[in-house]
Amino acid sequence: MSKSDEALARVQARAGKAPVDLGLILGSGLGHIADMVEGEAFDYGELGGFPVSAVSGHSAKLVVGRLWGRRVAVFGGRAHYYERGQADAMRVPLELLKALGADKVILTNAAGSFRPDIPPGDLMLISDHINFSGLNPLIGEATDARFVNMTNAYDATMRAALEAAAKAEGMQLKSGVYSWYSGPSFETPAEINALKTLGSDAVGMSTVPEVILARFLGLKAAAISVITNMAAGLGTENISHEHTKNMAPIGAAKLEKVLHRYISG
Ligand code: HPA
Repeated sequence: MSKSDEALARVQARAGKAPVDLGLILGSGLGHIADMVEGEAFDYGELGGFPVSAVSGHSAKLVVGRLWGRRVAVFGGRAHYYERGQADAMRVPLELLKALGADKVILTNAAGSFRPDIPPGDLMLISDHINFSGLNPLIGEATDARFVNMTNAYDATMRAALEAAAKAEGMQLKSGVYSWYSGPSFETPAEINALKTLGSDAVGMSTVPEVILARFLGLKAAAISVITNMAAGLGTENISHEHTKNMAPIGAAKLEKVLHRYISG
């Protein structure tokens, strides 16, 4: 039995076998949405193959149940490459999501913005990404399925629906290109300058490996960044994890509105 089969058996034994519509992966400081799900909670530690994340601001629990009228699997917390050097740390959770019957996943993260028109406290819908880390969660995957087409990685229909949901909430959801930087140190101003030149609008330490894995598994993916700071060299605030955690709730309130409208709509 694979790790995700074992996790599936454990989750279905308690949460039932009804298929899940949608997965939600919550980023730093955004975990409160997991508490709104009416269902069964599982500590990552009780699901074999799940990462045991030690990043403060992440709850490391999966909740399967009803959220705003739909059956969802909410992953409160993710593992990052920088924790243990594993780009595929979220493979088993995403395999489980697929096995639970979901065909879509929405990823959220905290990110640093390059754009004055997307300041801290705002959201950015990810339109595409740049894998600045050079790492890949599919290294070592032996099948031809590893050659994943990333042309429409961020699903156009999901993006349009998220934009419409934001509009219905009186917000304009701006889009941009997200770059994955391995972390855990933040970027230098020179790196931010280089990324800006390459066409990036925001930077963070997650999401890209999960989107690659989601596409590998045939899940449609969308992702929203909660902007917590202007990227290195572009703002006056002192960039720190503390600052990220303090700022995330501001954008999280907007994120919750957009997701509520999208999920219940
Ligand atoms: N860089 C990388 N990751 C981040 C940032 C940043 O500026 N802000 C929040 N997460």
